[in-house]
Amino acid sequence: MSIAWDDSFAIGDEEIDADHRAMMALIGRLQTVTSGLSDGEAIVSAISQLRDLCFGHFVREEALQGRIGFPDIEAHRLGHQMLLKRLDAVLKHFADGSDQIRFGILRTLGDSLATWMIFHITRGDSEMRPYVEAINHKRRRYSSRRRDGADHRPRLGP
Ligand SMILES: [Fe+2]
Ligand SMILES: [Fe+2]
Repeated sequence: MSIAWDDSFAIGDEEIDADHRAMMALIGRLQTVTSGLSDGEAIVSAISQLRDLCFGHFVREEALQGRIGFPDIEAHRLGHQMLLKRLDAVLKHFADGSDQIRFGILRTLGDSLATWMIFHITRGDSEMRPYVEAINHKRRRYSSRRRDGADHRPRLGP
């Protein structure tokens, strides 16, 4: 399964969208390096990078969810934790296992991560879009009011 960014994946927050692009690019690279067992170091490095990127992304995304009042943060957080546990288990099996185990992991890893990534955005993170839009809208209105220099304080008395 090939994975590539599409603008329809954007949720409207620059930092989160940039994370998603970077995660997709890394999963694409992982698919390339896992197509052979020849370079174990490159494989472990790509999985570790993805794990670190996901960890940072989840911290940023959960903080954003708190700021925008996103409901059901806990269920979403569980999904994030499950992926981190899975990547940790993959790294451990890859370090401890035989070539047969490594081959078994790598045969499906890239595609299953690509599927997870698309699902993560289209079924989970996309639900943040209206909340992000509402916050962005408020921010734009506030900054345009400040730019026009007018006094928008409520008037008291006649
Ligand atoms: Fe998420
Ligand atoms: Fe995300």
